[in-house]
Amino acid sequence: MDEVSTPALIIDHDKMQKNIRTMVKFAKENNVRLRPHVKTHKSPIIGQMQLDAGASGICVARVGEAEIFAKHGFDDILIANQVVEMNQIKRLANLNKKSLVRACVDSEKNALDLNKAALEEGLVLEVVIEVDVGLGRNGVKPGEPALKFADFLKKQKGLKIVGLQGYEGHLISVHDNDLRKKQTEECMKLLVDTRDLLNDNGFNIDYLTASNSGTYMFSAKYKGITELQPGTYVFNDEHHFRIVPEFNIAATVLGTITNIPGKRLYTMDVGLKAATNDNGNPVFKNYPKCRIRVMTEEHSIFRAGPNDTFEIGQKIELIPSHICTTANLYDHFTVIKDDEIFARWDIPARGKNY
Ligand SMILES: Cc1ncc(COP(=O)(O)O)c(C=O)c1O
Repeated sequence: MDEVSTPALIIDHDKMQKNIRTMVKFAKENNVRLRPHVKTHKSPIIGQMQLDAGASGICVARVGEAEIFAKHGFDDILIANQVVEMNQIKRLANLNKKSLVRACVDSEKNALDLNKAALEEGLVLEVVIEVDVGLGRNGVKPGEPALKFADFLKKQKGLKIVGLQGYEGHLISVHDNDLRKKQTEECMKLLVDTRDLLNDNGFNIDYLTASNSGTYMFSAKYKGITELQPGTYVFNDEHHFRIVPEFNIAATVLGTITNIPGKRLYTMDVGLKAATNDNGNPVFKNYPKCRIRVMTEEHSIFRAGPNDTFEIGQKIELIPSHICTTANLYDHFTVIKDDEIFARWDIPARGKNY
């Protein structure tokens, strides 16, 4: 670690591999496909490891990410999100000339724009109807509104409906296991009932994609769900670890102590440009009593535990509160294996949020 210039994003290779294998094993045992959301790492190297382990494709959030992964040979990509802006719709159509890149759709306006771009390129774009199962972010309402929307989509000659997506992302903050299970099942019921309604009305939908790293264990077991799309599990983070400790913390941010501004107070070089605080401040890997007090652009100031002492220049590892927004800040991962630096992997899709 002494050789690493900080702040740095450190990946423990073996812990990450174990997370990848744990999720694949779970999906296989529960007879669902696994399509990891690569917005967490934005790295084709790690995406390929997930495919090699048994995942059946990947999810991305943005066209820019899809472009990077398609360039690296990924040819089964779901943009688990809407592609609305015209420039991005054209790029989506263009991607589909070589790879299968599906997108979610939830509005007539967007469907018309996607259809126009598809017809102009002489393509049929495969789309997934997103159903709002409770998050209240994207998606048509379940039941009759989804059926009405599907009927509208069916008339668009440039589009083909291939399935339904329901993302129960709001349940990640439900810490009580029984309650999270109950609420996940309620969300999945909305999705499966909507599929039944569509199929009773002439559709033939089997593909239902859903879930995340905090609810995967419940949605996988709900009859009718065919695919999981978790992302964070690959590295895990402080926020998710509280509900899914079966996944190792495989990513940390390494920082250096730069000053000792007061008694038990330390400044380090990990600010908001090196670790986000959107789910709370990062925590200390080996010093549970240390607490960050302030995070600014380039620094954080923390109060050490009563028995913790540090020197200027000393390196310390932090566990990010939210790894997805933290990884997006870095150009590369420093990968550690058996306590040695094993590799430096670029993060080519980092910042490709457009
Ligand atoms: C649509 C969708 N699916 C899946 C995920 C993965 O969730 P997680 O990172 O909690 O596993 C996300 C995360 O933002 C998402 O937006």
